[in-house]
Amino acid sequence: MTNWQKSDWRNKPRVQMPEYTDAAALSAVEGRLASYPPLVFAGEARKLKQQLGAVSRGEAFLLQGGDCAESFAEFGADAIRDTFKVMLQMAMVLTYGAKVPVVKVGRMAGQMAKPRSAPTETVNGVELPSYRGDIINGFDFTPESRIPDPERMSQAYMQAAATLNLLRAFSTGGFANVHEVHKWTLGFTDTNEVKKYSDMAARITDTLDFMEAAGLTTETNHELQTVDFYTSHEALLLEYEEALCRLDSTSGKWLAGSGHMIWIGDRTRQPDGAHVEFCKGVLNPIGLKCGPSMTSGHLKALMASLNPENEAGRLTLIARFGAGSVGEHLPRLIKAVEEEGANVVWTCDAMHGNTIKSTTGYKTRPFDSVLREVKEFFAVHNAEGTIPGGVHFEMTGKDVTECTGGIRAVTDEDLSSRYHTACDPRLNASQSLELAFLVSEELSARRNKLDQAKAG
Ligand code: PEP
Ligand code: CO
Repeated sequence: MTNWQKSDWRNKPRVQMPEYTDAAALSAVEGRLASYPPLVFAGEARKLKQQLGAVSRGEAFLLQGGDCAESFAEFGADAIRDTFKVMLQMAMVLTYGAKVPVVKVGRMAGQMAKPRSAPTETVNGVELPSYRGDIINGFDFTPESRIPDPERMSQAYMQAAATLNLLRAFSTGGFANVHEVHKWTLGFTDTNEVKKYSDMAARITDTLDFMEAAGLTTETNHELQTVDFYTSHEALLLEYEEALCRLDSTSGKWLAGSGHMIWIGDRTRQPDGAHVEFCKGVLNPIGLKCGPSMTSGHLKALMASLNPENEAGRLTLIARFGAGSVGEHLPRLIKAVEEEGANVVWTCDAMHGNTIKSTTGYKTRPFDSVLREVKEFFAVHNAEGTIPGGVHFEMTGKDVTECTGGIRAVTDEDLSSRYHTACDPRLNASQSLELAFLVSEELSARRNKLDQAKAG
């Protein structure tokens, strides 16, 4: 990788990227961003890579979640706090089921560029360029708003920096105290609709009481008060990524300074394309979305180019096939990984294969399909003897009505009430936590089976 340059992607075919018309404005922004501090430090990316290495061996579990698209309009302390809070609750419930540490990675502080299925969008007979995320153009359906504006990259950087700053403050400033986190979850399981989860919550209470009695208090144990929380986003807008790319003086390697982990989307994973070229050269953990069109050949080529040294924790394969289709696609990709002896994290994005149009015209995802995809993912890994390493959700801590179902059932008719997403429908706080309980049950069933097999 010694000859790799952060601008090499410019010589490769690119898809899903904007055509900026004002070259002078674009290079002014790139120059400014290149002079700003990176958002993350190489040591953090390496630490996350180590933790993902543990996930790849089944010694930890990955929870990745957050907005489909962070927007300038929804930016604020409450939204950041609420998503962070639900992720901590989910992590605690998952830790209980998995009995291993949960690695927490937000789709936060940089998740602002979106690939789209069509280049234009037509409303009431008017056709305009598609919205591509706030870092590129505006959501408003006007010709002006849809023009890609490079200045938006500056705004995105400031928003990402402020988001990360608050996340760091929450992670270490007392907000992440294990007792507080559990108290919030008890509030959820107290309500009548979700009584069926109160058993597990009560067992977690017992565990915490026991730890306290044994002298493991938050005063004496730093680990119970703080969390490691990482950020991630799709590395789609390569001008932004290149401008934040920095040489790490410790290792002499390049760091994508825009976030701890970056991923390659299902539409931009061409083995000879610009996005793979960029990700290949940076030291961060890399995610790779694997949708139904991923062939074994593609996957093998991508693993060879993205992780030539077969480093554990470097590559996370994010399977997103849709409920009912996991059994058709996942086994061939698992086989490709096994044939290469590749070290990967397998995780399940149970969102992107399950988007439908509701009877009321909204883009939505049924809770049951999300759950079913996760269960199928576990079932295939259990059958293949490989490791289901994590889950990946589009979610928010707010009480939105974007996905249908869940125990506090959101119906097709409810969708219009609080449909706030700038892009895809997200699970709300209650649906997210409910999923965590259900995934936790899967994890503990799997653990019991493995223990039995070992004992027998
Ligand atoms: C996403 O994660 O928001 C996304 C667009 O996913 P995919 O590339 O898998 O479609
Ligand atoms: Co999405």
